[in-house]
Parts: sequence; structure tokens; C-alpha cells
Amino acid sequence: MEQIKKILAVIDEQQSLIRLVLASPRKKSLPYQKVVIRPLLLKGEPVYQLEIHYPQKVIHENIPRDEFLDSVSRFILLDFKQINLFTKEEDIQILAAKPTEPRVLRTPATKKAAEISHNKSKNYILPEGEPRDFLIRLGVSDDKGKIYPKHYSKFRQINRYLEIVEDSLPHLETGKPLRIIDFGCGKSYLTFALYYYLRVEKGLELEIIGLDLKEDVIEFCNQVAKDLNYQGLTFLLGDIAQYKSDRADMVVSLHACDTATDYALINAVSWGARVILSVPCCQHELFSQLQDTLHQSIFRHGILKDRFTEILTDGVRGLKLESAGYDVSMIEFTSLEHTSKNIMIKAVLGKVQSKKSRESAAAYDALVKYWGVHPAIDSLK
Ligand SMILES: C[S@@+](CC[C@H](N)C(=O)[O-])C[C@H]1O[C@@H](n2cnc3c(N)ncnc32)[C@H](O)[C@@H]1O
Repeated sequence: MEQIKKILAVIDEQQSLIRLVLASPRKKSLPYQKVVIRPLLLKGEPVYQLEIHYPQKVIHENIPRDEFLDSVSRFILLDFKQINLFTKEEDIQILAAKPTEPRVLRTPATKKAAEISHNKSKNYILPEGEPRDFLIRLGVSDDKGKIYPKHYSKFRQINRYLEIVEDSLPHLETGKPLRIIDFGCGKSYLTFALYYYLRVEKGLELEIIGLDLKEDVIEFCNQVAKDLNYQGLTFLLGDIAQYKSDRADMVVSLHACDTATDYALINAVSWGARVILSVPCCQHELFSQLQDTLHQSIFRHGILKDRFTEILTDGVRGLKLESAGYDVSMIEFTSLEHTSKNIMIKAVLGKVQSKKSRESAAAYDALVKYWGVHPAIDSLK
């Protein structure tokens, strides 16, 4: 065992570990089959993340750096006969049927090049091929992390979403638990991804609330959160327009239908949410309100009127948010080939100058007057 500990100590000391895999259980009765360990930075502190593979799920646990040696040693003594260490310098396989007489095989490093090129080619925050409990539980991947073909676009969407979330993090206040509300969460693939990324991977203290009108969806999501032991992730039944809260640091509303998006934005602004991420859809409200004779020759084509309504609706939403002090950008959420509902309104509080707010308020007034419309977002004061 001393020889194994020495190898582990050197790797820990040099911080050269890429991945460690403990496999080949000593007993058939062992409840988990494999443990993968990776180094991770949590709030700037180096830790090790344990990924414990059970037959139906994968559990993640983070341990401080100084517990690495004891933890791995315990796994070897009690649970596993084989360790594969992938380090920046070399790969080391240790066969430890008898921990006192390990067979150690060293070969040139393979993982570094392979992992970097994998991340680069896909450029995903959650790369494929690494099992994640929520993706397995939601049926997006198998237990080895392979994405099922029919869920590949959802997987891409999750990664794109997390990229945008990652970019938004510097705008959130740190030093207190975050409160995030996801309006119109639906089956919540993205809500689970958000929790997983921020809580499990980044170790942030947070509470996430998903709200939806559908009872069966809320029941399902609460069950999944319980199965995954995602504490602080709660799903509530309710209407966005009626939802009461006193605060939220971030408000998310992805594909909430028609004016549900407006109520999500109005709530977010009333709580002073620092970040709002909203992907509107089904913007029907203004379709029948448009009163402009000049454009009738174009609007007789329903599809063009529909597209224009979407742009006008989201445009005036953006102006209202700016007039409320948000810095607004309209960004592409997913590629157009996936869905035409692919524009995200990203709003960050506190960067807009009051002159800009006044200009946006004036532009809003002029537009709604020109088109003769009364959007639901009008009640955002
Ligand atoms: C298209 S799904 C989107 C689900 C998820 N956010 C996503 O992007 O994958 C829209 C969800 O919004 C919910 N919804 C629509 N209007 C709502 C309202 N006023 N209050 C709460 N939920 C609402 C619907 O029940 C539905 O589950």
C-alpha cells in the first residue's frame, strides 16, 4: 500500500492528475461499480470531485485536496482492485488485487491530448462521454455519458444555455446564496442543467425554483430532484403572473408562451434581478393589434406578419428593460436549424446610463404609438 500512496502523493503534490478511475470491485455486493476522480477548482480552491457510479445513477461528491490520499487509499483497500491514473506526464495502471503487492505499469500520457482535443472539437461545457446524473435520469444519455441520438439537439441546447449562464455569472453578487427562478420550467432539462452546473460542478450556494402551470410536470420534476438529491431545487405549481416573491438574483424564462414572458420580465424587474435570461415564444399578443395601413400589403402574408410581430414584441420588451435600467442584448440561443424561436433577451442590471434609459423609454412610447399596440409589457414601470 505504501508504494501506491507514494504514487498518489506525488501526483497530488504536482497537481498533475487529469483523471483517476477506480474499477474492478473486490466484492460483487459493492453497491457502486466505478469511481472517477478529477481535480476541480471550486471558488478558486482546488478540490477533487468524486463521481460514484451506481447501476442506475451517478452521484457527485467533492472532497478537499487533503482528503485525496486517504479517500483513494480507502477505496483501494476496501472496494477496488484496479486504478488507472491519467496524468499530464504519464498514464499509470495499478493492479492491486493485493494492495501490499501492486503491479504498476507506466506508459506515456494519452489522456491529455485526447481530452483537450475532445473539448476543443465540441467546445462543450458538459462534454459528451462523461456521465452526469441528471442527463441519465432524464433519459438524455446512457450511464456512460453517451447522448442518445434523439436527444442530441437538447444536449446542444443545454450546453449553449450553460455557456450563456457562465458569461452571466460575473454580474451576480457573490457572498450570499443565489436565488434563481425559472418561469415556465416545463420538463426542466435546462433547470436541472442549471442546478447541476452551478451547484454540483461549481459548488455555489443556491436555491432554484421552477414554476409551471402543469401539475404532472411539477410532480415529475420534484420526484427527479428528490431522486438526484438536488437539495435547494424546488418545483412549484403556479401562474407566472400571480407568483409572489421578495427577491431573485436571476430570473430565467425559456420558451414561456406569449405574454407569460412579459409577466416573467415584470416580476424580475420588480425584484431587481441582476440577470434576466428570457427566450420568448408564441408572441401572438400584438398580431391582431397591429394598425398600420402602409404594411397591409405585406401583412396579408400571415407568416410575414407573424415574424414581424415577434420582432416588434421582443423589441419593445428590450426597450422596456433598458428603460428600467438594464443593459440588454439580443443573442442567438440555439441555431436556427433547431427552432426559429431562438432569440434570447439577456438583460443585466446596473450598467445602463440614465440618458440611455430615457432614450429607450421614448423609443418605446414612439413605437407603440406608431403601431397602435398595447403590449402586456406596458405595465412594467
Ligand atoms: C414550451 S415549454 C418550455 C419549457 C422549458 N422552459 C424549456 O425551455 O425547455 C413552456 C412552459 O411554460 C409553461 N407556462 C406557460 N404559461 C405559463 C404561466 N403563465 N405560468 C406558468 N407556466 C407557464 C407551460 O406550462 C410550459 O410547460
